[in-house]
Amino acid sequence: MLPFTNFFVAWVRLMFEHFSLAPPDSILGLNAAFDKDPRDGKLNLTVGVFKDDAGRTPILESVKLAEAKIFQDQKTKGYLPIEGGKDYIEQVNRLVLGPEFDMSRVATAHTPGGTGALRTGADTLSKLLAGSRFWVSNPTWANHNAVFQAAGFETLSYRYLNAAKTGLDFDGMLHQLSQEGRSGDVVCLHACCHNPTGIDPTLEQWKEISDVLAKKKMLPFVDFAYQGFGDGLAEDAMPISILLEQHPELVICASFSKNFGLYSERVGALMMISGSPKSTEAVMSQIRTSIRCNYSNPPRHGEAIVATILSDPQLSKKWRGEVDQMRSRIHSMRSALIQGMQARGKDFGFLADQKGMFSYTGLNPMQADWLKNEKGIYIVGTGRINVAGLTSSSMESICEAIAQACSI
Ligand code: LMR
Repeated sequence: MLPFTNFFVAWVRLMFEHFSLAPPDSILGLNAAFDKDPRDGKLNLTVGVFKDDAGRTPILESVKLAEAKIFQDQKTKGYLPIEGGKDYIEQVNRLVLGPEFDMSRVATAHTPGGTGALRTGADTLSKLLAGSRFWVSNPTWANHNAVFQAAGFETLSYRYLNAAKTGLDFDGMLHQLSQEGRSGDVVCLHACCHNPTGIDPTLEQWKEISDVLAKKKMLPFVDFAYQGFGDGLAEDAMPISILLEQHPELVICASFSKNFGLYSERVGALMMISGSPKSTEAVMSQIRTSIRCNYSNPPRHGEAIVATILSDPQLSKKWRGEVDQMRSRIHSMRSALIQGMQARGKDFGFLADQKGMFSYTGLNPMQADWLKNEKGIYIVGTGRINVAGLTSSSMESICEAIAQACSI
């Protein structure tokens, strides 16, 4: 007689057998490979996670204090509203848009991380914008295309990086968007600390970008994952203010993974700005519908941390200081990398203009593979390194390894 499971198999159609193996994620897949690598002295410069000079990803002190407060004060773990709690939404609106902004024009929802905001935003737009395309920079964050396509959009790339891979191809970007963009298309822009290149437009260039998008009637869709890691919390939001001067409608996807160090708590926000409070209400209702059929409503803990910090002047001051410290550590690591490469006869001076966690080294996939296989140094295949993962003690060996990789 057949054992029970075999008997079952004989009668049921095995659908999962038709699945083939999906390729690993180009960032998180490398992270997983790193974890399995048994070599001592291996170094992970793939995923965008801040590390201190001892190579740890610390919980911010302001976060610990907020958690202690929440532990004392929190009364319930009941469901939050679909869009998240009121305090969180008010605080996040102020942080991103500044206290003076007319909040009756903003429909905001707490989303699970910045990725949740991107997906919920794209899902919400796809109901309205049949036939519109989503433009992303070339290169862009490795997950952008997949997220926007999953929401039903066709994605197209606009030129961003110059041929030498050292700076912005600003003319190419503007030319392409103005020649090939269509009214109603959505344009994904990185407000600061462009991922993966670290190359940002200047404020003057932002004005011109805004101009082209307004003339073409294209919708700015701003990925804002690194507020505070470029020039400062207020400074990094300047491109959004510039866009708002000409664009009554705008989408912002904020993440608090990096600036609050809340990676695994999944805290972000989708903010859709409308021309009038009446539209805001309708937009909010559409966002709620997108969320309800996806993850239903957001998790409580991360948003409680952010809301607690931002609503408490002392905690807020401490947090702002911690953001400043993270930014200045990244800055000093980038300078040390440039110097280390210079000492080996390699000019990496172009990195000095890059901002935020990432730098684009110009290394190709083969060189990235060589670094991984020969040196146990993991970087993304595009040549992106997480500068925030460098430490003083690993700097010499990394510079040496990159210099060697440059000559293969
Ligand atoms: C990154 O680009 O490394 C981060 O945004 C983390 C991620 O999810 O890819």
